[in-house]
Order: sequence, then structure tokens, then C-alpha cells
Amino acid sequence: MKVISLRITDDAIILTYTRNNQSLQAIITYDPKQAIGENLEKIRERLVGISFDAAVIENPLEYEFSDTIVGINHQRIDIGLALTNMLNIPVVSQQTVKSVGLEKAVARKQDYNQWHLDYYGQYTSKRNYGQESMLTIGNGFFGLRGSYVEATADQDNYPGTYIAGFYNQNTTKINDRDVVNEDLVNLPNAQFLTFGVDQQRPFTVTKENVQDIYRSLDLHTGELRTTMLIQLATGHVLRIVTTKVADMKNWHQYAIRYQLTPINFSGSLQVYSKIDGSVTNDNVERYQNFDQHHIDISEMSTAGAEAYLAGHTKTSNIDFIVGTKFTSSSVDTNRHLAVTNTDDAITQTITLDVEQNKTYTFEKNVAMFTSQETQGSLMDHATKELQNAGFDSSEQNSNQFWQGLWSNADIQIEGDLTSQKLTRVNTFHMFVSASSTANPNLDASVGARGLHGEAYRGHVFWDEMFVIPYYTQHYPKLARQLLMYRYNRLGAAKKYAASEGYKGAMYPWQSGMYGDEQSQFVHLNPITKSWDPDNSRLQRHVSLSVAYNIWTYYHMTNDVDFMNQYGLEMLLEISRFWISKAIYNEKTKRYTIKKVMGPDEFHEGYPNSDEEGLTNNAYTNIMVAWLFKTVEELRKDTISAATFKEVTTKVGFDEKLFAKMDKISHHLKLDINEDGIIGQFEGYFKLPTLNFENYRKKYGDISRMDRILKAEGRNPDAYQVAKQADTLMAFYNFDFNSVNELIKGLGYKLPKEYLTKNIEYYLDRTTHGSTLSRIVYAVLSLVDGNMDQSWKLFSQALLSDYYDIQGGTTAEGIHLGVMGATLLLETRNYAGVDQLTDQVKVNPHLPSHWQSIAFKQFFRGTQYSFKITHDLINVTADHDTKIYVAGKEIAVPAGKATTVTYQKPVNDN
Ligand code: BGC
Repeated sequence: MKVISLRITDDAIILTYTRNNQSLQAIITYDPKQAIGENLEKIRERLVGISFDAAVIENPLEYEFSDTIVGINHQRIDIGLALTNMLNIPVVSQQTVKSVGLEKAVARKQDYNQWHLDYYGQYTSKRNYGQESMLTIGNGFFGLRGSYVEATADQDNYPGTYIAGFYNQNTTKINDRDVVNEDLVNLPNAQFLTFGVDQQRPFTVTKENVQDIYRSLDLHTGELRTTMLIQLATGHVLRIVTTKVADMKNWHQYAIRYQLTPINFSGSLQVYSKIDGSVTNDNVERYQNFDQHHIDISEMSTAGAEAYLAGHTKTSNIDFIVGTKFTSSSVDTNRHLAVTNTDDAITQTITLDVEQNKTYTFEKNVAMFTSQETQGSLMDHATKELQNAGFDSSEQNSNQFWQGLWSNADIQIEGDLTSQKLTRVNTFHMFVSASSTANPNLDASVGARGLHGEAYRGHVFWDEMFVIPYYTQHYPKLARQLLMYRYNRLGAAKKYAASEGYKGAMYPWQSGMYGDEQSQFVHLNPITKSWDPDNSRLQRHVSLSVAYNIWTYYHMTNDVDFMNQYGLEMLLEISRFWISKAIYNEKTKRYTIKKVMGPDEFHEGYPNSDEEGLTNNAYTNIMVAWLFKTVEELRKDTISAATFKEVTTKVGFDEKLFAKMDKISHHLKLDINEDGIIGQFEGYFKLPTLNFENYRKKYGDISRMDRILKAEGRNPDAYQVAKQADTLMAFYNFDFNSVNELIKGLGYKLPKEYLTKNIEYYLDRTTHGSTLSRIVYAVLSLVDGNMDQSWKLFSQALLSDYYDIQGGTTAEGIHLGVMGATLLLETRNYAGVDQLTDQVKVNPHLPSHWQSIAFKQFFRGTQYSFKITHDLINVTADHDTKIYVAGKEIAVPAGKATTVTYQKPVNDN
């Protein structure tokens, strides 16, 4: 094993390593004027071109939570975390190597790194908000931000709690206009716990009070542990270990274990537990001008160790109750408990005498119910739930759930520590956002930012398309329930279409409680104080993503019952909408779809035009052609005539409409230039380009070019500049041949190599202002055989939230779409297991440094288990089945490991 050793002094890092059997030493002098990261970067520079398996820290400080913390330049850092991120290798301490040997120490650390998300130190403002998002635990019913339990909302901490589907609408007068916003409501903060010594001021998390903080999310068990070393101004020193866990079985509950150890004193200690109903929605700075008070408290009560705070949302009138049980194994809670109430908060205090170096354990169990998912008295439910609640049982339920989950949905990657860890982080957050235990009982879908923060007000977008196929592969019933969220809002989508003069169902761009449009129609320009049109709702392609999700779900599960009862009806209503939107143009002899926007949000309309939106967005038109073709195939080949008739009668679909659909599906207009570039929309080629290099020189990060241009008094509509993948999105949704057929079916002929040219063309014009951009281009690049480019884009996409690459947006919630899409890409594209055809096809393109990838997936009721290396495909299935490798059919008998060799494609790296 090749290792590098690091000895840390106060002003230098001394590296010892071997190259060509020669032992070498390098001294990296620490520059106090530079940031820690910049100093560490010099290590990478020095070692460039030499590969290592691990690093050993010779002289770390002694800590219980990490063996790689060092003191450098009067600061403490976890150099292990930093180097692992930088060099993608495990970092161990000399002590551990001495006690268990190098091999074991490295193997253990490698395993630890792959299953933990750790942060060392105290961070402030958006950085800490971002870490709270990343440390959020939950179960699809609720999300609980990973804040310190001692924190209340301020500019550094935001202890938000959200329940799926728990929305409220408030009206705010802004510049003489009533603006209505629907928000996913931040519930009363019940995770609050803190302590005080000798009846003095309760502890708060401040720079002065805290000596050290280590936070560790154990992905394997779902437990979030915070260890704090505290020194109060009074000189009292304490260690506090807080463990939080979302109950994955009794999904109304979470539990906290709070362990305090006085290190240098004995005396009187108070431990405070609060349910704080004074919360507002305050996570997103730019929403501050709106009324963000969403709840009224109606009742507060206590009974022994229990406390209850009940209320309702202000306008949506959803009742809720938050109940807690606050106990301690260290004292008789009943004798030592005092209660104080304010108008909107209940605090329980346990006072006890403590002895130096003894650990005192407290427990807080929390139960939350709302009138949305629960019938009858919420109080009765909460009381009953808390009676049986205990930290141990919640912990066990969490452990069991995650164990089952990892055996079903884990993706194992050998040879790349960072990819492995972040793949698991992304998987974890997928199931914090929706789980197989809670969601079947809920009328909710997944928001673009999970249950992790308040950006986009918790709304549901087309982003579902980037995640639902993943849920389908692992928990089909969960995916079905997410689709039911859309079915339950079909009426609203029909109303929306009618309100704009269309037929059928038009799903809203932003969807919340009722399924009506939640995007704003105008927004206030803070500079000019004028109300400018906001056209983002014109992204009518969202209905096409609903259709795509229905079809892929049906295709991958064969859930005929769902299709017959719900899916087909939605598909027909959505088709009807597009029929009513497509207008025949006598001149071009083609159908035109006007007043839309593609996924690229920089283009909301034509410059110097009074018309809203754009005409003939290529992605939209290709997807409409796909939808019409798919409905026709379902009619002809798949769904029984009787069922089809029944549903068509229900929705009033007749032969004339089918005929029209057929005609439209072959005559939609695309704008293709002489080089075979597909125009993003009609008129696109007339727009000038921008010199990105100049902008980069001037502004550095140009991902939000729309904002830069607007600040310069320019209009992004007027340029060939895209926020994200748009024109080529269909090639993300389907395989190349299918899209090719669709374009041909529209009567267009494209030159050879057109995909390569189009990717190049649009990448040159895209700033990746959405996290959904790189991941799409990573897929497209791979389809196009450009593995290097695919890997570059994918690895950045994988880091999106971990490094908060948009500089502060993770603070307001994770980006669930890109998280799900990375998981899909890994299995669908890199492992090459394609489920979009009638039999599973396997065509791997493993990144060169991945030794193997292994995972399980369901396809039409059969669970497949794959392990793929650079030349072998190993597959087991629980039913007799077959797969296709390089066009060859391979039989896979049930329960028998089948191994196939394959040729690595030549163009791969
Ligand atoms: C992207 C959209 C996405 C939305 C919610 C926006 O920044 O442009 O494509 O649906 O975020 O994630």
C-alpha cells in the first residue's frame, strides 16, 4: 500500500512519501494570510502525478470523535476530512496504525468515510445553514433540519421542521398589490434542548462558549450525532453529546438523546426542553418582505413529562399538534420538573445536582400529527404515541429501516471513495424526502428542495422526473403514491387549462397543496419598483414530465391497475391539453405551439415583443410528439379495448381527437438550421451570442448570467444564453434512437453526427445556472461517446450540495432533482442498465477509476442484482428472466448468478 505521512507543526506540514523507491520529504510552509484550503491545496500541487492509497497523520490531537484533528497556525482542523475530500483517499492516524496495523486502519477508515457525513468546527451564516440542510433527517412525513438542538432561528442557525403537504397561503400587500404565496410551513420547533449551570443564563451556541463541535450523520443507521465541548464564561467545562433520530416506522415521531458531562465541576444543573411555537418561515432571505407567519397556536398543555402545543395554519386551516415527552434516566423526572409557558411556547425544566465527570442522560420524544393525514382527535393520537415512545425504540426503528433500505437501494462503487460517499448521501436524502413507510399514507409528492428548507416554498416541480424513476426501481409502491399526488390534482389541472382557454389538463409549473398554479405572475423589480411579468409558469412542459413519469412507472412496473384507473386518464387529459394548444399554420403546413417556455429559464419571451412566452420550443414539441405516439401505442397494443373505451368515454375523447393527435404528432414544427442544429425555439438563431470569456473575467462565476445581464440593464431573452439543458432534454429522457425516430417522424432529416454538434453548440451557450444542467449534459455526453466530458460534468453534479456549488442555495434546502439524477445516471448510464426497453439491456461505460459498481433494481416485478466491472457483468434475478448484452440475449435463471463478459467500448477513457 502506498501511503503518504504528514507531520504537522504550527507553521508547516512535513510530507514524507516514496517515489521510485526513494524516500522523499517536502515541507509545505503554512501561509497565515491564506485560507486553510489554499494552504492544503499546496499539498495536492506537490503530489500531482503520484498516486497514494492512504495518508497517515503522525501527530494528531486526541479527540474521541475523530483521530485526524490537528493544530495548525493556532487553529484546529480535521485534516483527515479535508485531505479525503481533496485526494480521495482515507486518512488515518499513526496511533491507529500502531494499534491495529496499516491495512486494517485504512480499511476501517475507508468504510467509515463511505457511511458518514461529518463536519468539524463551528460555522456561521449560510455555510452553517447549508450544513443543516445536509444533516437533515426525516422519513418523508417530516424533515428535521440538522441544527444544534440548542439553537433558535438566527442568522447562523435555522432549526426548521416541515411536514409533507403542510402548506398555508398568506397574502401580503406589496406596492399596492396583494401577493399570495403558498408556503410549506415551518412547524413549531420541538427539537429545542439546552442547559444552564446554577440557574444562570441558559447556554446558547456562540463562538465564545464553544470550544469544539463535531457533527456526524451516520448514513447506515440514520443517526445524527453532535459532540460539543463547552467552556462557559464562568469557567464551567462540559461535554454534550446529542443524538437525533427520525423514527422510520412510527413516522410521526423523532427522538433526541441529550447527554451532559460536567468536566470540571459538581453542582446544580438545569436542562430545558421547549416547544417553540413562535416560529415563522424565515429560512429564505428574499422572502422576508412577505407575511411569513403561517400558524396560530390554539392550545398548550402539559401532563407530567409530556407537553403539547396545538394549533392550525392560518388560511388552509390544517390542525396540528406537536407533543413531547421529556425524561431522564438520571433523575425522577416528575419530582424535578418545572413548567413555564409564554404565549406561544412551553418550556419544561429539569433541575438536578450533578457530579464532576459523570454523564447525565435526557431523552426527548416528539410526536407530530396533522388533520391532513390523521382522522379523529390529534391530542388522543399524540398522547397514545408518546406513551409508547422511547429513544431506544426509535433508534431501533431507524436502524432497521436503513438496514433494509441499504440492502435494497444501495449503489456500491469500488475505487472511488468520494463517489461512494456522495452516492450514499444522495440516496439518504432521497428517503428523507419520501419513504416507503410514511408516504403511502400521504397525499404529497417530493418538493424540489426536499423537506430540507424553504426555497421555492416547498413546491413540487418537473424535478419529479429526475427522481421518480429511481423510487420506481426500488420502492414501486412509493412511486405510485407520488404519482397519485398528481392524479388527486387532475381536477385542478383541468381548471387551470380552462382558465387559460385550453382543454384537458394543464399541470401548474409550481404545485403545492391544491394543485393550482403557485408561480407568481408578476414580480417586483426592486430597482425600478415596477411589477414585471414573471413568465416561468409558461413552462408547460411540466405536464409532459407528469406524463413521462406515468409512462416510465407503468413501463417499469407493469402496474396495469394504476394505468387503467389513473394513469391513462391523466395521459388523455394531458394530450387533450396539447391538442388544444397546437395550432395549424396554413403557410408552413405544420402545427405550432405558442406561449411556452422550455426548461431554460433565461428565456421567458421574445425581446421587443408584447407576446408572452416563446413559440415552438423544441423540447416541448418533441415531447408532445412522444406523448401522442405513446398514447396511440397504449391504445393499439397495450391497454384492453374495454378499458380504453371506458376511460376515453369518461374524459370525452373520440376518434376525431385521435385522428388529430396523429396528425399533430407528425407535423409539429422544429427550427433546424443548415448545420443540423436544432433551434431551442423559433427565432433562436436570430439572437446574438455573448462572449462568456469576457464575462468570466469580469464576474468570475457567470452561472446566473440572467442576473448579471439584468444588472447591466440588458435582457437575457435577447441572447443565445441558457441557464440549463433545454433543446436536447429529450435525449436525456429517452435513448438516442427513440428521439431520432421522433424527429424523423416529424419529417425532419438530420445530418450524421448531429448530436455531437448540438451538444457542443449548446454547451457553449449554457452557464449551468441550475443544478439540473450538468447532470443532463453528463448523460448526453455519454450517449455521444464523450466519457471524459461526461465524467467532468457528472462529478461536479455529484458535488452540488456537498460543496454548495451555487454559493449559498443549499442553505435553503437540498436540490433533490440532481441528487436523484446522479443515482439514475450511475446505474442507467455508467453501469449501462437500461430499463426503458422491453427487456433490460446492459451496456456498461464504467469510469476508468471505478473498479466496479453493484446495485439492485426492480423491473416489472423481478429484482435484479448487478455487479459490473470493466469486463464482466454479473447478474442474479429472483425470477427467470433474460437480459440483452451487445444485442445478444442472455438467459438469467432465477437465483443463479450469471456472468457475461463484455467488450469495453473503445471511446471510453
Ligand atoms: C430550475 C428549474 C427547476 C427549479 C426547481 C430552477 O432553478 O431552472 O428547472 O425546476 O429550479 O428545482
